[in-house]
Amino acid sequence: MNAKNTDFGTFAQDVMLGLNSKPKTLPSKYFYDAKGDKLFQDIMALPEYYLTRKEYEILEGQHKGILARILAQQQPFNLVELGAGDGLKTKILLRFLIKNKIQFSYYPVDFSGSVLEELEQGLAEELPELEVIPIQSTYRDSLKAQIWENGRPNLILFLGANLGNFGVEEAKNIVDHLRVGTKKGDQVLVGLDLKKAPQTILDAYHDAQGVTREFNLNLLDRINRELGGDFDRESFVHWPSYDPVSGECRSHLVSKKSQLVTIDALSQTFEFEAYECIFTEISKKYSFSEISALASSGGFQVIENFTDSEGYFSDVLWEKS
Ligand code: AVJ
Repeated sequence: MNAKNTDFGTFAQDVMLGLNSKPKTLPSKYFYDAKGDKLFQDIMALPEYYLTRKEYEILEGQHKGILARILAQQQPFNLVELGAGDGLKTKILLRFLIKNKIQFSYYPVDFSGSVLEELEQGLAEELPELEVIPIQSTYRDSLKAQIWENGRPNLILFLGANLGNFGVEEAKNIVDHLRVGTKKGDQVLVGLDLKKAPQTILDAYHDAQGVTREFNLNLLDRINRELGGDFDRESFVHWPSYDPVSGECRSHLVSKKSQLVTIDALSQTFEFEAYECIFTEISKKYSFSEISALASSGGFQVIENFTDSEGYFSDVLWEKS
């Protein structure tokens, strides 16, 4: 790994903070350990989880249009990707750029070290001529450090509805980090899930096979494994809910009974009342007007919406004014 982020070792602190809050909460970024990465791969293959397939369709069918504006500048550029993950969708862009002998460097940013290593290895095999500079970091830290900044134009990919994991105010804060972390003419491609039939959205987070349930419960397993917790996973229910007004899909773990949970690393015992919830994740669904407002809040102009044929998902190209 070429770059490490600075705020590791905070899992214990974040769990302590979250479980002492009312309502109790745990940050969704901790879903992604090796087990969670694997479960998320399984989620992306679920029939109910349309997001990945829709975005794949957009990139596959419209990558030329998406890249036209950065290529028009006719100079080497940096392709930065926040939350790179397995890079399956990004490889569509990478292959196209390499095939056309475009000069660029790829900076995948991810919080998960295991996912980054896999990505780096896969790319070294498939696209050996590609220059890859992996950055293990949070979005905010990477945007503060901007280790890619060298005067070249930047195209920042923020795909996979990852920005949807933040509530409205927090999303604005991330966009503000994007504002500070970019210069005039830099572009951002933001992939967001759109508002649609509520049942379709709810099903995507409540799949019939129960993979999303496992993904959510892995957070408790991880606390048990890494922090010496004694959560009994069977006494918690995976419960997503979708509010079509705010567009917020929220996942919870509901305690089926009153119980005590001890976490050794925190030297603390937490009390759960019957049916008390731990809020674990928000996946916000957007309208086009909300996306435009978010762009403006960071001094970005919407250049174009690249949307799939059903209007489920959109990759929106922003440019810094
Ligand atoms: C990777 C954040 C886009 O919110 O849809 C999938 C994570 N959570 N199923 C999402 C997730 C439950 C996913 N993102």
